[in-house]
Amino acid sequence: MPKTNAEAQIELHRALAPRYAYRYSFRFSRLFQEDWHAEMISHVPPGAERILDLGCGTGFFLAELEARHPGSVGLDISHEMLKVSSQYVPDARLVTGDAERLPFAAEAFDVVFCKGSLHHTRDHVGFLANCRDVLADRGVLIMSEPCNDNPFIRLARAVLYRKSPHFDVGDQGFTKKGIVGLCERAGFEVTRVKKYGFLAYVFAGFPDHLGVLRFVPGSALLTRLFIAVDRVLCALPLIGLLGFHIVVVARPSPGPARRRARRRR
Ligand SMILES: C[S@@+](CC[C@H](N)C(=O)[O-])C[C@H]1O[C@@H](n2cnc3c(N)ncnc32)[C@H](O)[C@@H]1O
Repeated sequence: MPKTNAEAQIELHRALAPRYAYRYSFRFSRLFQEDWHAEMISHVPPGAERILDLGCGTGFFLAELEARHPGSVGLDISHEMLKVSSQYVPDARLVTGDAERLPFAAEAFDVVFCKGSLHHTRDHVGFLANCRDVLADRGVLIMSEPCNDNPFIRLARAVLYRKSPHFDVGDQGFTKKGIVGLCERAGFEVTRVKKYGFLAYVFAGFPDHLGVLRFVPGSALLTRLFIAVDRVLCALPLIGLLGFHIVVVARPSPGPARRRARRRR
């Protein structure tokens, strides 16, 4: 019988869990991830307290959220990934569950983070509508997802997702226009869109895929340099096409759009 996507993701991430621990075990890769997290956290509105990390994986990001906002919640479909999380973040609330069927009360959170999990799901509007439902009216969704605006990156990603055992063939990146449209259909108003990650993303982000910096003296310094260069590149209008990820900040649309999206479900 063909597997559902949920079953495929559980199987895929069972195998990937040990790789994530390795990925975050180098100083240079942690520096890169911490910069990425800081970028996402910079969009948290003042006074936000109730935090959900949707697709928290092995919990490296959740650990930072929990340090700032005690009581943060991490949800992931993969119990194997969460087992690693429980070592990094013993105090956070970890929930094994499917983002396409969230086990939380309406308006339970002030911020929903989603770092690289939307592209693993198939009903993107349903996923985002679930995020909206668990967000307070003045809450905020902060996502970072693979960006396909650059045709070369889109092609490389398509090949990687099809051929590599570390992805599912149905996973996909998003264009800026596409992801903004999905958010709007789910009842969100997008307030900020930014490209993120180029040189540091490729060379420092994923030593389990490309480990060249492990052999380079001064890898931490080089990573800091890459991060600084990327920040400039990604802010330039055309060169921003280089960004491997897109950071999207969105708020539940007021009134009719939100109600309409709710009725559609
Ligand atoms: C690329 S990993 C990112 C993990 C983590 N956010 C990080 O940045 O290290 C994607 C995560 O999404 C989870 N995931 C995939 N489909 C999911 C679903 N339907 N519901 C919840 N989590 C899901 C996977 O198990 C995996 O841990």
